[in-house]
Amino acid sequence: MDSRLEYRNISCKTNLSLDSSVSDRLWTPNVCFVNSKQTEVHKSPSHNVLLIIYPNGTTWLNYRVRVSGPCTFHLSNFPIDSQVNEASKSSCL
Ligand SMILES: *[C@@H]1O[C@H](CO)[C@@H](O)[C@H](O)[C@H]1NC(C)=O
Ligand SMILES: *[C@@H]1O[C@H](CO)[C@@H](O)[C@H](O)[C@H]1NC(C)=O
Ligand SMILES: *[C@@H]1O[C@H](CO)[C@@H](O)[C@H](O)[C@H]1NC(C)=O
Repeated sequence: MDSRLEYRNISCKTNLSLDSSVSDRLWTPNVCFVNSKQTEVHKSPSHNVLLIIYPNGTTWLNYRVRVSGPCTFHLSNFPIDSQVNEASKSSCL
């Protein structure tokens, strides 16, 4: 939420949808994926970033990312196994 981006009193537009060329010029939180080895933003062909600015100054920033991280595999039941990361309880691919 940044009141400097509020535009409800100066424009009839709703929900501005913008790309990374605008998000690069805004302060954004420094997000990291704990224990990740590599993280990249999808490109197809430009960066897969969606920035929405609502008339009240609330911003919504959406990145599509690919993350590589460590994952322990238990292969004793392979190939009828199902892998689950015990640390985060998220599925491993
Ligand atoms: C926009 O208009 C509303 C209602 O008139 C007012 O409460 C608000 O303070 C205004 N915001 C700005 C940034 O001028
Ligand atoms: C703008 O976003 C709000 C909240 O997500 C939604 O309710 C509204 O329908 C959207 N307006 C338009 C024109 O897309
Ligand atoms: C601003 O508007 C959006 C979309 O309608 C809404 O989701 C959000 O809660 C609002 N933010 C504030 C601070 O009211």
